[in-house]
Amino acid sequence: MSPHSAARIYRGTGRNLSLLAAQLKRGELVAVPTETVYGLAANAFDTSACRKIFRAKGRPTRDPLIVHFHDLKELDAIAVANPAALKLARAFWPGPLTIVLPKRKTIPAIVSAGLPSVAVRMPAHPLFRRLLKLTGRPLAAPSANVFGYVSPTTAEHVRHGLGRKIRSILDGGPAQIGLESTIVDLRDPMQPRLLRPGAVTRAELERVLGQVVPLAGATGKKSGNPRAALVAPGTMKRHYSPQTPVVLHETMPPRRAEDEAWLFVAKPAGTRAANVFWLDARGELGGAARTLFAQLRRLDRGGFRKIHVELPCGPGLAEAIVDRLRRAAAK
Ligand code: TXA
Ligand code: MG
Repeated sequence: MSPHSAARIYRGTGRNLSLLAAQLKRGELVAVPTETVYGLAANAFDTSACRKIFRAKGRPTRDPLIVHFHDLKELDAIAVANPAALKLARAFWPGPLTIVLPKRKTIPAIVSAGLPSVAVRMPAHPLFRRLLKLTGRPLAAPSANVFGYVSPTTAEHVRHGLGRKIRSILDGGPAQIGLESTIVDLRDPMQPRLLRPGAVTRAELERVLGQVVPLAGATGKKSGNPRAALVAPGTMKRHYSPQTPVVLHETMPPRRAEDEAWLFVAKPAGTRAANVFWLDARGELGGAARTLFAQLRRLDRGGFRKIHVELPCGPGLAEAIVDRLRRAAAK
């Protein structure tokens, strides 16, 4: 492919889905819509296909991929489930929950970054589900962004970042949730741990499991916790980052520099400045999560010196939004 050719965006017609399924079966990459963020998919059983994912994203191979599948019947060929995992599966799949389990030998080492575990998820997006069914095999897919940048929530975002690295993008509209899936570690069903907060909240997990689900410590170069880093590689502190410096505020200051962007959770009363933005007019967290990444991308291209962001507060979805913002702001 010439370096100037841009990826093609396909609508989800029957004909296009068959064509994209054929590409996946041939070992090619296809960017796919999910209810969380767009993913960059390859046949999870095919080492060389999965290797292309890392190359396209510039992602280090120590950062493992999530394996997506269509039907619970397929899980046994991918991972070793346990009763706790099946409880969560019944409650939240298809949906924005990823579960880390001991892996089967069928999943190549490239997918799990050499770990004996694998992250699995049954996604809810209807077009991705149809594509999974047509392809007839599980698909490994990380978020479809250049490594380290903000995750994509539209087909256009994918093309903007990876358009010269991949050929095909399936357009499923703007992502419904807008934040990456919740990841829970259930390798040991007696000791569940939250590896990444998301739309399935910690309280919901605890209710279904009937036990406490502590948050695993933030990992990465700066956390000083090498053991945690081994368990959840890729949950690095700096991630999802715009190029423009991001500054977080519990409360936004009243004096605001004009060449800096000010992103509120809700629409602030009585401000009309061109550098004031908000995530959701009424400050609803579902809406805020849905627009967060698109807003960060837009402001990143807006020529501002800094992007100031107001932190939402509270449990549930706020925990996931704050997590992404802290990563975006990490130096
Ligand atoms: O919502 C999502 O989860 C999206 C869509 C495409 O499904 N995917 C996504 O993938 O966010 P990615 O690669 O950006 O994040 C996956 C993360 C890895 O960075 C790593 O932290 C964790 O999942 N992970 C994957 N396999 C793991 C494993 N075996 N043990 C621990 N963590 C794992
Ligand atoms: Mg990612």
